[in-house]
Amino acid sequence: MKVSFAAPALPGSGALVLTVAKGGALDGLAAEADAAASGALSKAVAASRFDGEAKATLEVMAPSGLDAERVLLVGVGEALDARLAEDVGGAVYSALAKSGSESAALVWPQAGSAAAAGLGAALAAYRFDKYRTQLKAGDRPALAELTIATPDAEAARQSYEADGARLVEAVAFARDLVSEPGNVLYPETYAEALRELEAVGVSVEVFDRAALEEMKMATLLGVAQGSAREARVVVMRWQGAEAPPIALVGKGVTFDTGGISIKPSGGMEEMKWDMGGSAAVVGAMRAIAGRKAAANVVGIVGLVENMPSATAQRPGDVVTSYSGQTVEVINTDAEGRLVLADLLAYVIERFEPSAVVDLATLTGAMVMALAHEYAGLFANDDALADSLVAAGEAVDEKLWRFPLHDTYDKMLESHIADMKNIGPREAGAITAAQFLKRFVGETPWAHLDIAGTAWTDKARPTVPKGATGYGVRLLDRLVRDVCER
Ligand code: BES
Ligand code: MN
Ligand code: ZN
Repeated sequence: MKVSFAAPALPGSGALVLTVAKGGALDGLAAEADAAASGALSKAVAASRFDGEAKATLEVMAPSGLDAERVLLVGVGEALDARLAEDVGGAVYSALAKSGSESAALVWPQAGSAAAAGLGAALAAYRFDKYRTQLKAGDRPALAELTIATPDAEAARQSYEADGARLVEAVAFARDLVSEPGNVLYPETYAEALRELEAVGVSVEVFDRAALEEMKMATLLGVAQGSAREARVVVMRWQGAEAPPIALVGKGVTFDTGGISIKPSGGMEEMKWDMGGSAAVVGAMRAIAGRKAAANVVGIVGLVENMPSATAQRPGDVVTSYSGQTVEVINTDAEGRLVLADLLAYVIERFEPSAVVDLATLTGAMVMALAHEYAGLFANDDALADSLVAAGEAVDEKLWRFPLHDTYDKMLESHIADMKNIGPREAGAITAAQFLKRFVGETPWAHLDIAGTAWTDKARPTVPKGATGYGVRLLDRLVRDVCER
């Protein structure tokens, strides 16, 4: 869907969307439109339960006296800020997508949040239809163009083009990667797809299996060894400033069967999105480079497929990680941490980053604790944790911090190696984080367990069902707040 900006005016065709504050009173252009329609709009408000509550909508078909084929009233509640403007934009898109209107004009009197409304609508318009060959015309959205009619349209357009539109592309890129099935997206094809980032100025370095063996990334390679698909590690760099970089690290398990510790078959198809952490990193790199951020950012993703086979890693195997520490692999389904361990140690040694943030669909325990609302945050640095929580609130990718403590670390003790890759059943998300902590040394580090937020069965105003792209906006915001000051 194309988003554009124009001066406030009533449209000559298509749908007309008018915002209504809590209480349901029509003012400004809305009052003018109501007068032109001989009061049809205020009459409709009075006849319905619509009272301008945020994100509520009321549709009035083809009122005589107006050129619009339909009028959509949308509530903006009592306090309209940029975050709510995004949701309202998303609600407008969803209400009109399949209405039949091909274009709409959204009258937006608040100059400060007009670009945000456009961003929300564009994020809501995401679809993954490439494998549907039999989609009926009526199931396809018709809405192709949204014009936001707002004072200072030129400023809104510039802000949208420089920031919002880049973010929309980045989030869509991440959602596409997460939506792709495991037979299409596997380490090689994934790494190849990341070459696309070079077009926005990101340098892309791909390490194949031979290179990774040379580098001694053995815990990562151990996960991949049961698969016919070879592992890849991809390093992405955006150098928009001279300072030491911030490093973003992503778990990219393109399919997680569990390996020899195989998962039950019910719902296993969901494990195609076990690369959601890597997609967040990739999307963030694209957003950051897309807006030419004045920040130095390194992204690294570990791409592997976790399969059971004659060559697969066995429970009980002991592997020497990149850091030199040894790991007894008790459960081959606790593979994400094995991938991240090598990435974390490597990225810290090579780039000496000022901070490291990793994202991973790491544990089912995280989903038990937080469902699909918040992602879990674990950190060895309070300032970094606080910045992440604030960024999450600002972009509605919320984070809840969990504790780290030596008593949890002890649960990883092994009889024959430096550590086991799992703890007891209890506190599974925390012991997973403690495992990672053993590979970061003193570097400020945060781990985001996004197992519950990478995918959703329930649409939200700016996030359709399916792959959410969770983390792209969060990381983009973090870099903006922490690195670009
Ligand atoms: N990818 C899974 C975690 C996961 C589970 C993500 C459900 C999203 C939904 C991870 O690799 C895994 O299998 N973790 C195990 C760890 C356990 C063996 C200690 C888990 O959570 O069951
Ligand atoms: Mn697993
Ligand atoms: Zn996994």
